[in-house]
Amino acid sequence: MAGDPLIELRDVNKYFGDLHVLQDIDLTVGKGEVVVVIGPSGSGKSTLCRAINRLETVQSGTILLDGQPLPAEGKALARLRAEVGMVFQSFNLFAHKTVLQNVSLGQVKVRGRKKEEADRRSRELLERVGVADQADKYPAQLSGGQQQRVAIARALAMGPKVMLFDEPTSALDPEMINEVLEVMRQLARDGMTMIVVTHEMGFARSAANRVVFMADGRIVEDRSPDEFFTNPSSERARDFLSKILHH
Ligand SMILES: Nc1ncnc2c1ncn2[C@@H]1O[C@H](COP(=O)(O)OP(=O)(O)O)[C@@H](O)[C@H]1O
Ligand SMILES: [Mg+2]
Repeated sequence: MAGDPLIELRDVNKYFGDLHVLQDIDLTVGKGEVVVVIGPSGSGKSTLCRAINRLETVQSGTILLDGQPLPAEGKALARLRAEVGMVFQSFNLFAHKTVLQNVSLGQVKVRGRKKEEADRRSRELLERVGVADQADKYPAQLSGGQQQRVAIARALAMGPKVMLFDEPTSALDPEMINEVLEVMRQLARDGMTMIVVTHEMGFARSAANRVVFMADGRIVEDRSPDEFFTNPSSERARDFLSKILHH
């Protein structure tokens, strides 16, 4: 592990009605670590991410961020959401706000920054993700790849301790996938702690410290990318890899 534990899940279980979607999940992510989560559709990857920033509650087990249990409500929960940046498949930008406003809004509302300070920071981050020239446009005027980079800037603007990415490139046209992955690679190089759900195996190989393979709500494998890709130990993972690598 790269550093001290930043995220710890201990024996976490989550049900939707009778459906047991997270089963005895144990997962520790160290500071500065990049963990790629892969697995078939419906295996619980999104629910895992959503549990970590408490968009979903779990029925049993513990989830710690930086040694602290996740807060249940109120200001502490808003702060948690800021500390756990989340980027979804659908970019989730506010359609009626400009790019700059999208990135500044949470900084003012949750972090209590002055608007000028927030805007200055937003422009720096938009520069960093390569869309500074789009600051005054509305999301619909941007390409999908540009919108996703704005979504990343918006999450970063809150000063997160960890970034969760849930299939951030799955809704993008192929030619835009790399510009988003490159921003993520840079973030990883800068030492950000990241959990990334993705089918981009090139990214997993090049940027991940660990690959977590999920199936039917369980973590089936948790290994280095090298070990996972060259010699997966489970039949489930071998089957999954053969499907996605040879499609
Ligand atoms: N809000 C919900 N209500 C009921 N079932 C859900 C809900 N969200 C997800 N599920 C179910 O939980 C399982 C895991 O879903 P999900 O975490 O989205 O998987 P993945 O992201 O790996 O595709 C699936 O069977 C899915 O249908
Ligand atoms: Mg999902």
